[in-house]
Amino acid sequence: MLESISSAVTLNDGTKMPGFGFGCYKASGPELALAVREAVGCGYRYVDTAAYYHNEDTVGEALRHSGLAREKLFVLSKIWPTDFDEPARALDTSLRLLGLDYLDGYLLHWPGLDSARRLRAFEQLLRQKEAGKIRVLGVSNFLEEQLSELHDVFGFWPVVNQIEVHPLFTQAGLCRFCAQCGIQVISWSPLGRGREMENALVRELAADLGRTPAQILLRWHLEKGLLPIPKSVHAERVRENAAVFDFRLTPEQVAALDGLRLPDGQGRMGPDPLAYPR
Ligand SMILES: NC(=O)c1ccc[n+]([C@@H]2O[C@H](COP(=O)([O-])OP(=O)(O)OC[C@H]3O[C@@H](n4cnc5c(N)ncnc54)[C@H](OP(=O)(O)O)[C@@H]3O)[C@@H](O)[C@H]2O)c1
Repeated sequence: MLESISSAVTLNDGTKMPGFGFGCYKASGPELALAVREAVGCGYRYVDTAAYYHNEDTVGEALRHSGLAREKLFVLSKIWPTDFDEPARALDTSLRLLGLDYLDGYLLHWPGLDSARRLRAFEQLLRQKEAGKIRVLGVSNFLEEQLSELHDVFGFWPVVNQIEVHPLFTQAGLCRFCAQCGIQVISWSPLGRGREMENALVRELAADLGRTPAQILLRWHLEKGLLPIPKSVHAERVRENAAVFDFRLTPEQVAALDGLRLPDGQGRMGPDPLAYPR
């Protein structure tokens, strides 16, 4: 179990990455810059962005101003499927905007609908990894069949899979599959985009434990071995979300939160990876 927000998990290839991250989707400009600096100041070491978020320049500048040494940070970005034909160029663009000469993490943002293009992109990015431009090459929004296809072609499992997970949409089967294959799950929208903090059980647990609903939700991810990346542009919430390492949920409390899952994927907030992006 992680001891602090800066503690690392060890991935299936032996690399280490921080076990808690800061999300940057739908944030930009000075508001994002301040939030990133606040996050680094209170111990977040993994910052999660993507070409699709159009904020890599702001993230890069904020990280430079944070004063933290480059090697202490884990900067992760993602390639959008429309760039799968020229992945080296997409990577170089992200590096230039972030002002970095390597990325700690680089993910195929969505599998996309064309398996041949996806596999070619992954292969070309492996060469970029060998060239030292990427430390951890992983995937996002991959289902079992897409993970298995990568394994069949390349002979190893990707190290991480970043997927939508929160109590109303637990993706229990996919998380179990990833755990069996040694793939670290990173939970996107770990707070259900803020909506699950209104849930009655979450609020009840928060009141019982003297915590906030957001802290209960984030602790649920940690208890399950998932790596959450909450986003907030408010300094007090950035700090609140980080303060989840001095209490635990019992197995019964975790199971009760698991029970919030809606049937038939109704709790999903993002798109279905089998049909997106078109
Ligand atoms: N790979 C993918 O396809 C994918 C897709 C979506 C997201 N992501 C990544 O995952 C990250 C997190 O997901 P997300 O941004 O969608 O959702 P989230 O982190 O679950 O929730 C963010 C929302 O919750 C609010 N919030 C945060 N902390 C709070 C607190 N303590 N109390 C009350 N409200 C709080 C935020 O508002 P304020 O900002 O106003 O505080 C924001 O509206 C993203 O930023 C991105 O890095 C990846």
